[in-house]
Amino acid sequence: MIEESIDFLFHSFLAPKYLVKLGLVQEIIGIKYRKKRQKDLWLEHQEKSKQEIIKTISKLTNKRKALIIGAGLLLDVPLKEFSDQFKEVILVDIFFLQESINEIKQYDNCRFEQVDISSTLKEAYYLWQNHGKNKELFDQKLKNLIYKKPIHFLLEEELDYVLSCNLLSQLSLAFEYFSKKKKMLETTTLKAFLESFETNHIEYLKAFPEETTVHLLTDTERIVVNKEGKELESNPTIDHTLLKDFREQDSWLWDLAYYGEIEKNSALKLKVQSSLLHPKLSHT
Ligand SMILES: C[S@@+](CC[C@H](N)C(=O)[O-])C[C@H]1O[C@@H](n2cnc3c(N)ncnc32)[C@H](O)[C@@H]1O
Repeated sequence: MIEESIDFLFHSFLAPKYLVKLGLVQEIIGIKYRKKRQKDLWLEHQEKSKQEIIKTISKLTNKRKALIIGAGLLLDVPLKEFSDQFKEVILVDIFFLQESINEIKQYDNCRFEQVDISSTLKEAYYLWQNHGKNKELFDQKLKNLIYKKPIHFLLEEELDYVLSCNLLSQLSLAFEYFSKKKKMLETTTLKAFLESFETNHIEYLKAFPEETTVHLLTDTERIVVNKEGKELESNPTIDHTLLKDFREQDSWLWDLAYYGEIEKNSALKLKVQSSLLHPKLSHT
């Protein structure tokens, strides 16, 4: 606990203020320490993700440049294989912990970029800071942000592979928690803004050139099971209709939390899906 708090303080000092305020630094540190506690439980999912990525990139004809979005703690990213197989690798996350940066720096052909891939978080945060008291103005300006499309790396040359790596369902969470913490009015605009994170990310992936292989790894269902492992409840973690232009390659269950760890009388699993954007459908 003390180690986690010191780690948080250290990285909060390095991170832009809006990321700390939105709780994103705490979230990344939280994943790091949950992973330590859940070492065995999470390993299978991480290995499965890596194998799925390795299998996909091994089939590519061209391997000039790879872009990995949501690389985070590199838990499910086979960095060595990327470095061995591609001429250049760009790892993207909104914020990297120092140990991930050190790991990336071990590979000459890999570099990292700290980018908000939604492109709206900073503006939304300052909008609240500056206009939060004027509910109408805040609502009006937030509405404009729904239509702000991410464009990072779309003009990057020689991109043969783009991976969205287990982040789709996470994109809206920071602002959702922040909105609850600040007791923002639950207006239709706020709801639409939160939903736009997923929609805009999928549209963004579809905007890469047709020759680029676009690979999406994401959880799709949250499953609550009892002590005996029997399913009690299952809910979608993303809007499934967004995946209509993607072709499923494989899916598996990720044992997310032990019995009693997050919910008192149950354990949690996530269904994770690996899919490729159907090239012929990417620009329809
Ligand atoms: C569940 S983790 C994915 C795990 C990661 N692939 C790994 O191997 O450690 C989700 C990642 O998405 C990142 N993320 C969340 N919102 C983001 C945003 N707006 N732009 C870029 N990265 C974001 C988080 O920082 C986190 O590292």
